[in-house]
Formats: sequence, structure tokens, C-alpha cells
Amino acid sequence: MHKEEYLFSKKKVSYLFDYSINQLQQLVDGDIILLTDQTVFNFHQQKFAGYKTIVIEAGEAFKHQQTVDKIINQLIEFDADRKTMLVGVGGGVVTDIMGYVASVYLRGVEFAFVPTTILAMVDAAIGGKNGIDVGVYKNMVGTINQPKFLLYDNSFLQTLPTEQWINGFAEIIKHACIKDAKLFAELQHNSIEKYKNDAVLLAALIQKNVSLKTNIVVNDEFEQGERKLLNFGHTFGHAIENLYQVPHGNAVSIGIVLAAKISEEINNFYSVEKDSIVALLKQYQLPTTLNVDKGNVFSILTKDKKRVGDNINFILLNKIGEAVIQPISITQLEDLMHQIL
Ligand code: GLY
Repeated sequence: MHKEEYLFSKKKVSYLFDYSINQLQQLVDGDIILLTDQTVFNFHQQKFAGYKTIVIEAGEAFKHQQTVDKIINQLIEFDADRKTMLVGVGGGVVTDIMGYVASVYLRGVEFAFVPTTILAMVDAAIGGKNGIDVGVYKNMVGTINQPKFLLYDNSFLQTLPTEQWINGFAEIIKHACIKDAKLFAELQHNSIEKYKNDAVLLAALIQKNVSLKTNIVVNDEFEQGERKLLNFGHTFGHAIENLYQVPHGNAVSIGIVLAAKISEEINNFYSVEKDSIVALLKQYQLPTTLNVDKGNVFSILTKDKKRVGDNINFILLNKIGEAVIQPISITQLEDLMHQIL
């Protein structure tokens, strides 16, 4: 067990590594209400015994306002008050929705996360952005609000389906591409199987990614600069994710390939490095292409949150391990998409 603390603008957040969900009650003084999804609940029912638990349907398709309303009604039934601690136990959908509900219920109550997927452990549960989708538009509504703590209980990974392991590695590869060439090389020498079968190697990988992302967010919580780099692969990724119902990591993987190709096209990014990225994504069984309707995708892209006037702040690579923010005009982006896709 080990604890790290990070100071965000309004809050100190504790990261509890190698803990067990069974320690939750010891960590919280007052009443706790858990939120999870049907999949996690079915696999780990005994871990929720004795807790008031709200169970939502699993999947991105349920990350919307109707689910928020249902949760709020259940919180009212459970008499949740300002002293209640809400804990999201699950993947990115659960942590996003929990953070959002906790930020608006009674104008804000305390919350914490127990991320149960690779993707949530290294990315979704970190950083305080919590939100919901509106139709095909990802995370259109939300807040930036940090949880009190994140509890890492890697026993949840024992029941994680292979496609969710694959999904999570897209964000790990993203981190390597934008910030850490050494991590990129480590990933080249390993595989999902190897990480699955080596708890120490896996724990080190998770912690490395947690600290990489957290350090970026601590330095730029409200995304004025460096935090934007974490959007690498996400502009295109978000545009296709809900439109084609592609799992988040898979959509990001395809978005990373597009961003690497644009980097090659307009940023002197070496072709051989782009090829290494595509090869690494394939090594981790991630998709690198998708047949899309360019018109539909483009119209969603123009609604991207990162759009400023006629430009979208696109994240490109200078080299593996070094990313840059580059405004690209909507017209140029449309030309590039037609050229590359
Ligand atoms: N919740 C994900 C983030 O803040 O980036």
C-alpha cells in the first residue's frame, strides 16, 4: 500500500495505490453511497455488501442526462445529504457521471473514485473533468472538480474483459507519444499478456501513467496550455466514438493515427516514427483504420469543444515523446481529412 498526494487548485487529492475496496469505510468518516454499473456489480457483488449502492446500466450509451436524473432520485431516496461521500466504482462512464452528479447534487458533495478498468485507472478517473454526452456529442456538459481520493484496487482487473484491456492501452500509448519516449520503448518490448501476467510490472505501468497525467493536470488544471496535449488523438476520436459506437480507446487509437499522419503532413514528423506508432497500436491489438462518412465526421468535428472561431487546436507530434498544440483552420482540416482518410 502506498499513498501519494497531489495539490490541485482547490483540493488536495490522495492517490491510494495497492489498496482494497474493503478499506473504504476506514477512509471515510460519514455515510457512503456507491455508484457502479451492472457489469462491475454482477462480477463483484460481495464487495458492495453493506453499502447503499446505486447500479446503472453499463456503457457510454447511458452517460446522459436521464441516467443523471435517475441517480439523483435514488440519492434523494437514500437521504443523501451534504455529509454523504459518493464513491464511483467502475470505468470511465461511472467515474464521469459520479463526478458530475456529485458536483451538482445539493450544489456539490464530496466524492471519490475506485477505478476498475485500465482506462479509468490511467486516464478517466484522473483530472477532475466529469461530464455527460448529449446525443452524439461527447462530454458536452460537465464540470472540472477533483475527487477527494482515488483508490486503486487492482483485483478488479481480474474480471476485466480483454477488449477493455486493449481499450485502456490506447491512452497509455497516447501518454507515451506525447510525453515519454522511454515509456514508448518499454511498451514496444512488452505486450498486454505480459502486463496481465506480471502484477509488479503492471502496477508500475499504472503508477507511471497516473503520475504522467496528474503532473500535467496539476500544472494546468483548467486547460489553458499543456493539458491540451492530453487531447492527442481525441479530436477525431471523439467525433467517431458515438457516431460509430466505437469503444473510447479504439476511437482514440484511430484518432492517434490520423493525428500522426497530419503531423507528418504539416509538422515534419518523421514517417518512420508514424509507422512505429501504427505498429505499436497494432501490437496492442488496437484498430488503426475505420471506414467513415467524411461529411458526417467533419460536421461533428466542427462542434469540437477545442474549436476557437475558425480554428481547432489540434495536437500534433514533433517527435515521439514530444507533442505540440497547433491551431488548424476548419478548411485546412477538411482538406487534410480528405487527403488522408
Ligand atoms: N476525467 C478525465 C479528465 O479529467 O481528464
